[in-house]
Amino acid sequence: MHSQVAPTLLDALRTGTALLHVALEKRLPFFCEQLDAGWYQRLLQAYYGFYGPMEVALYNCGLIPEGYDPVLRVKTPTLLGDLTALGLDAQAIRALPRCTELPVFDTPAACLGALYVLEGATLGGQVLRREMAQRLDVNAENGGAFLNVYGAETGRRWKDFLDYLGHLPLDALAKQRAVEAARSTFSCFEQWLDSQEVLL
Ligand code: HEM
Repeated sequence: MHSQVAPTLLDALRTGTALLHVALEKRLPFFCEQLDAGWYQRLLQAYYGFYGPMEVALYNCGLIPEGYDPVLRVKTPTLLGDLTALGLDAQAIRALPRCTELPVFDTPAACLGALYVLEGATLGGQVLRREMAQRLDVNAENGGAFLNVYGAETGRRWKDFLDYLGHLPLDALAKQRAVEAARSTFSCFEQWLDSQEVLL
């Protein structure tokens, strides 16, 4: 009956965010020669200021479809550990600026779009981890754990996440909402990092 095959949610998310990924990647300083330990620390502080409120909002909204395990996938504690390893105490961490212009998660689909961005970012993290280890001697013990947050499980976790995404029944409108939330997650993150003056 339907000769036209509808794009999967993953296809829609990939197509809908590809350009935003390229744009943000270009502005992140990980491969920039001028990136030094100080800039790296400010970058990580800015990541913390986004992931913290973002994960709180997502995990408390009550709309994430069943099958996603936040305990397994929460990343803010790893960022917190990195900042501590870099020498920040609890008071200094509490005083860090936190993003208030977050994407809106008002539907289960919107949650999925945001989660796609946060989970996908762990893949690029593998590239960044190697670069930061070579250039700044940053490793899991001295401020680089976030870049390898899932460690040897990275590939497995991504595959599991794609299985989760692929098994949820979403109609065309829901897919559209997921893509909008994913796009909004990329742009809120970029605007936040920009406001913290850590981008190129
Ligand atoms: C300089 C920084 C970055 C680099 C070099 C980078 C690189 C990559 C690479 C190589 C992949 C594909 C990995 C694979 O297929 O195995 C990837 C995937 C992805 N990255 Fe990034 N990334 C960066 C930053 C980010 C950031 C900041 C985010 C979001 C906050 C992000 C979100 C994603 C997503 C959602 C995917 C999954 C795409 C898909 O397969 O559907 N990336 N990245």
